[in-house]
Amino acid sequence: MTINIALLGFGTVASGIPFLLKENGEKITAQAGTDIQIAKFLVRDDAEKQALLAQGHQYEFVTDITAILNDDTIDIVIELMGRIEPAKTFITQALQAKKHVVTANKDLLAVHGSDLLKVATDNGVVLYYEAAVTGGIPILRTLANSYTADKITKILGVVNGTSNFMMTKMVDEGWTYDEALAEASRLGYAESDPTNDVDGIDAAYKIVILSQFAFGMTIKFEDVRHEGIRNITPEDVKLAQKLGFVIKLVGEIVERPSGIYAEVVPTFLPKNHQLATVNGVMNAVFVESIGINEAMFYGPGAGQKPTATSVVADVIELAKGIDKGEVLPAFNTFTRETVYATKED
Ligand code: HSE
Repeated sequence: MTINIALLGFGTVASGIPFLLKENGEKITAQAGTDIQIAKFLVRDDAEKQALLAQGHQYEFVTDITAILNDDTIDIVIELMGRIEPAKTFITQALQAKKHVVTANKDLLAVHGSDLLKVATDNGVVLYYEAAVTGGIPILRTLANSYTADKITKILGVVNGTSNFMMTKMVDEGWTYDEALAEASRLGYAESDPTNDVDGIDAAYKIVILSQFAFGMTIKFEDVRHEGIRNITPEDVKLAQKLGFVIKLVGEIVERPSGIYAEVVPTFLPKNHQLATVNGVMNAVFVESIGINEAMFYGPGAGQKPTATSVVADVIELAKGIDKGEVLPAFNTFTRETVYATKED
């Protein structure tokens, strides 16, 4: 048996998937219990299709989603277009066409996750999104599967690589915000519109998803207070250093007796805090709980191979079930009523 996948988008992460299927094909086939092959790529338009063909790519490129939706041989759709539309429409249509979906789209999951998960359940298929939070760090399945006996009390996360790279340069090398942003853009870390990265929006999306997995509560993006790094000056950085602190953009979710509180803010971290050592584009999620106590999960939060690795791991989980004629269940999250605490509680 062969599992056929279709990819929506041919960007950095998408091009990492054929690489992994080739380089690690033997292990992937053994783990999935079946071969996995790319059947189709959806690209933006004919110009992109012709450009990719001219570069020597030999996939079947299509420009209309219906070519994928109507193809009964396709089992899994991987969405790597990012942002809300048309990704939301395409994912919804794929789920309604009874195809499992894997995505790395945190914007979409943070804002429309509940609706999309319901569409998946209603159609007897599964939506997986391990790569949506801290790309290469397998944090969602870890929280879902390995913290089942534990009670998490707090999550602290450096979950945006672009802003962490910028803060690292501002702290270690005394760069200004503008110099750091220019370098982040030059290196391709910051997006052409870096608003979501530098204003804490991207980090807040990830905090929303983490709150579901860690606390069983579906908080709303609007309820995560978020402030970015735009207004941090070299004077702020120097003051922090003088006092023995490092400034980082930190996402926090804490459970108090009255409920849950979540925010993303530039934070003075003591120099010896484990998160203070997370530098450059790296990410980390620091988990406090009553059982394990303290654990930190560290790794690349973005990038072609790290993110593609998480995407393909989701595909393998699905393939295991499809091969046996059964589908593996949705992420093993628990759900409680969402109750908010205030910052002051
Ligand atoms: N723009 C994001 C970051 C990419 O810099 O972390 C991964 O979500």
